[in-house]
Amino acid sequence: MTAGESHGPALVAILTGLPAGLRLDRDAIDDDLRRRREGYGRSPRQKLERDEVEVLAGLRHGVTLGSPLALVIHNKDHVNWEWGMSPWPPEGEPTGKGSSPVTLPRPGHADLAGTLKFGHEDVRNALERASARQTAIQVAAGAVAKRLLGEIGVTVAGTVLEIGGETSEDGWQRATDDARVDRDTLGGVVEVRAEGVPPGLGSYADKGDRLDARLAAALMGIQAVKGVEIGEGFALAGKRGSEAHDEIEPDRRRTTNRAGGIEGGTTNGEPVVARAAMKPLPTLMRPLRSVDLASGEPGEVLVERSDVQAVEALAVVAEAAVAWELARAATEKFGGDALVDFVGAHAAYLERIRWPSTR
Ligand SMILES: Cc1cc2nc3c(=O)[nH]c(=O)nc-3n(C[C@H](O)[C@H](O)[C@H](O)COP(=O)(O)O)c2cc1C
Repeated sequence: MTAGESHGPALVAILTGLPAGLRLDRDAIDDDLRRRREGYGRSPRQKLERDEVEVLAGLRHGVTLGSPLALVIHNKDHVNWEWGMSPWPPEGEPTGKGSSPVTLPRPGHADLAGTLKFGHEDVRNALERASARQTAIQVAAGAVAKRLLGEIGVTVAGTVLEIGGETSEDGWQRATDDARVDRDTLGGVVEVRAEGVPPGLGSYADKGDRLDARLAAALMGIQAVKGVEIGEGFALAGKRGSEAHDEIEPDRRRTTNRAGGIEGGTTNGEPVVARAAMKPLPTLMRPLRSVDLASGEPGEVLVERSDVQAVEALAVVAEAAVAWELARAATEKFGGDALVDFVGAHAAYLERIRWPSTR
């Protein structure tokens, strides 16, 4: 569970289900937060925010207690929005950012739908929470999940495959520069790969148990993600069965991994591979047509500052989302009270199924 507005005082998360006895590494969490801020197409805000995680509960001397873990990231930019984003009625005359209402909803953002749904008059009341700023605290949660997965030898890594249709690093920079000059935005594709995942996480038993469904929901839950595929995903649809499935060798491993490590909603012992497609960011420096919700008159949305693209950041956020979901599935299978029980159950299970089989 997370909370926090983009320019409010802070972002918070409460993480439940973590076993006691897990040693956390503050630098590893802050490193992932730094990775999320970096990237070629990010806006100047990313230099302003020097995200650092603060832990309020659930941790003693760096070790989890098995109680809910409460994380906070303070928004350094909030000082410029103290009147505009004050949780309580602000004192004095309106001053600083956010002090006048936003009435022009941006096409492609949550502005119009959110304003209508919640009955807001100031579009800011919708956009502040809809903003991807909240992904910072999700990345902190993902870093904790990766720490837990590390205890059973699972690693999770997100990488960029495409930005603006380009597949090379040179192409990404060129496309980003061109879009910046045109005051436009780009999207892209990222891939998350988890290695060392034991077979048997998730289940085919019911639709809500299927790990592929859960990963799809976790990835689609990230702002601007409009497509998800597991393994070869959409490309499988055009293949013959003989070219689509991963044959099983005597040691029960595969020489191909078109399924992306999941069959029947359950991990099969091969690396879990998921991809997410991100649409071009909706805040453009070039005006797009919209309507002024106060006057009903046509208007143009004008913006001072935004990312050209945030695909590198998405790779880090997607990595966190996949790590969180895998950690959840792992604690369901191996227990979540004490780390020693979790690690012991994992070892006993691998022993029972004689995994990893020797090749
Ligand atoms: C890491 C990340 C950074 C983002 N940065 C921006 C941004 O600077 N400007 C913007 O308009 N949208 C940005 N977005 C996308 C919007 O938050 C998203 O499009 C919006 O909330 C509407 O949700 P939807 O695209 O899922 O429909 C970002 C998304 C992510 C994942």
